[in-house]
Amino acid sequence: MQTHNPTIQTGSKPNQSLFQSFKQSFSFPDRVSDFCILFARAVLLLCLIASMSFVLRSAFSSQSRRFIIPNRTRTAKYEPFDKSIAATNISHIVFGIGGSVQTWKDRSRYTHLWWKSNRNRGFAWLDGEPGEIGNPVPHRVSEWCSGAGYSCKTAAVRMARIVVESYKLRLKDVRWFVMGDDDTVFFTENLVSVLAKYDHNQMYYIGGNSESIEQDQMHSYGMAFGGGGFAISYPLAAQLMNVMDGCLHRYSFFYGSDQRVWACIAELGVPLTTERGFHQFDIRGNPYGILAAHPLAPLVSLHHLDHVEPLFPNQTRIDSLNLLMQAYQVDSSRILQQTVCYDRRKKWSISIAWGYTVQIYPFMVTATDMQIPFQTFKTWRSWSNGPFDFNTRPMSSDPCRRAVVYFLKQVQEVDTRGTKTTYERYVAKGEKVCERDDYARVMAVKQVTVSSMKMETQLWMKAPQRQCCEINDRWGNDNNIWVRIRKCRKSETITT
Ligand SMILES: *[C@@H]1O[C@H](CO)[C@@H](O)[C@H](O)[C@H]1NC(C)=O
Ligand SMILES: *[C@@H]1O[C@H](CO)[C@@H](O)[C@H](O)[C@H]1NC(C)=O
Ligand SMILES: *[C@@H]1O[C@H](CO)[C@@H](O)[C@H](O)[C@H]1NC(C)=O
Repeated sequence: MQTHNPTIQTGSKPNQSLFQSFKQSFSFPDRVSDFCILFARAVLLLCLIASMSFVLRSAFSSQSRRFIIPNRTRTAKYEPFDKSIAATNISHIVFGIGGSVQTWKDRSRYTHLWWKSNRNRGFAWLDGEPGEIGNPVPHRVSEWCSGAGYSCKTAAVRMARIVVESYKLRLKDVRWFVMGDDDTVFFTENLVSVLAKYDHNQMYYIGGNSESIEQDQMHSYGMAFGGGGFAISYPLAAQLMNVMDGCLHRYSFFYGSDQRVWACIAELGVPLTTERGFHQFDIRGNPYGILAAHPLAPLVSLHHLDHVEPLFPNQTRIDSLNLLMQAYQVDSSRILQQTVCYDRRKKWSISIAWGYTVQIYPFMVTATDMQIPFQTFKTWRSWSNGPFDFNTRPMSSDPCRRAVVYFLKQVQEVDTRGTKTTYERYVAKGEKVCERDDYARVMAVKQVTVSSMKMETQLWMKAPQRQCCEINDRWGNDNNIWVRIRKCRKSETITT
């Protein structure tokens, strides 16, 4: 489902034109252009004669001139939807993870991070029986499929059908099918928070775009990129089951499985509902900028972690993820949420991405600037400096304009309702530091301690608002400052 994994590459070129594929559907004779002209004239004449009746024809039958609509094999009868109004929880979700025997064992290092056998339902769908298990996600072997112009031999077709195969298992009390790749890391508590906002008895298709505009343009802005994961509500899955095979044939020229699923959903007239916490991570280099200025939305997924630098400096990829997961486990709703505050006396600006990093500047930086990600990364395909589907700001090469940066060191739970996280100053080898006095005073701070109450999950059901923070002078000293994050008071702004 990730768009550029060679294992899911299709036989056809991604940019094969629509016309070419129509041509193939009709298998036009290659040679005779004369015949074509003659044929075209005949068609024109026929059209003139038939124009009156043609006008009366439905749009559907004119479509059938262009597409082959295969015989409908079944009319699915689905059980009535779950009418209960109880809040959505993890038990209502069935995961469908696209995988292959080849990568099954290796990718288990990612599934181990998030899959909980006693809580999560679903399967990884593979192209055969894996020799070794070693992966916590139970697996199924995808069923064989074939039809005019497509077959499950093509990985993208096999993966696109995962939602239908998951539906056909007829598991009980399913509200959502959530698709992902075998290298997608889900933050399931937050996934539940996001899905709980929507009525699972309606047709929803929820996910996120690519960060790289070049990818959105090549594929579609309207499509949920599969590596970031996406959710399909039960009634939508039921409809997809009816149309999927015919639709896969019509879009056999598409590149990835996610684009095929999108096309089939588009035929049902259902658009993408975008949620900013799904991360396809179509970026190269260091993801720091995105994580340090995450949108005000629950973190739902991360992807392409083999392709970006480790999240924390001087740590392996897996150690980095384990550290992030530690923070997520004590306060899942708050992970990466950004808070901005100022020390008016010292004239410092502070930005906290909870559970990840703190930045301090010895001057005033506006809140609008601090919520723009530093561009520490490049685009996915061409390794360019943009554009991305959000604003970015350059990381200055002048150390006297840069933030002084701290990374998460320790996470503690306090009285079951609160948390204390500490962040330690990190200086990369050979990094130039600013020699000015104001910077020296910031750099004397070796550690930042952040305390907060755990964030209520219910806050995500309300209008989003950043929380406020304040520097606690009583507890801190010159090399360890204390910051408290709390709900903003009425009419309090970030700068007051
Ligand atoms: C579709 O149905 C017709 C009539 O039942 C049959 O003749 C034809 O072979 C079928 N086509 C396919 C592709 O199954
Ligand atoms: C989820 O909600 C259902 C009721 O809809 C309940 O029966 C089930 O125990 C809940 N599961 C969890 C893990 O809370
Ligand atoms: C990187 O990690 C190693 C071992 O954990 C440690 O000895 C070293 O000081 C670290 N380097 C920096 C720049 O923090």
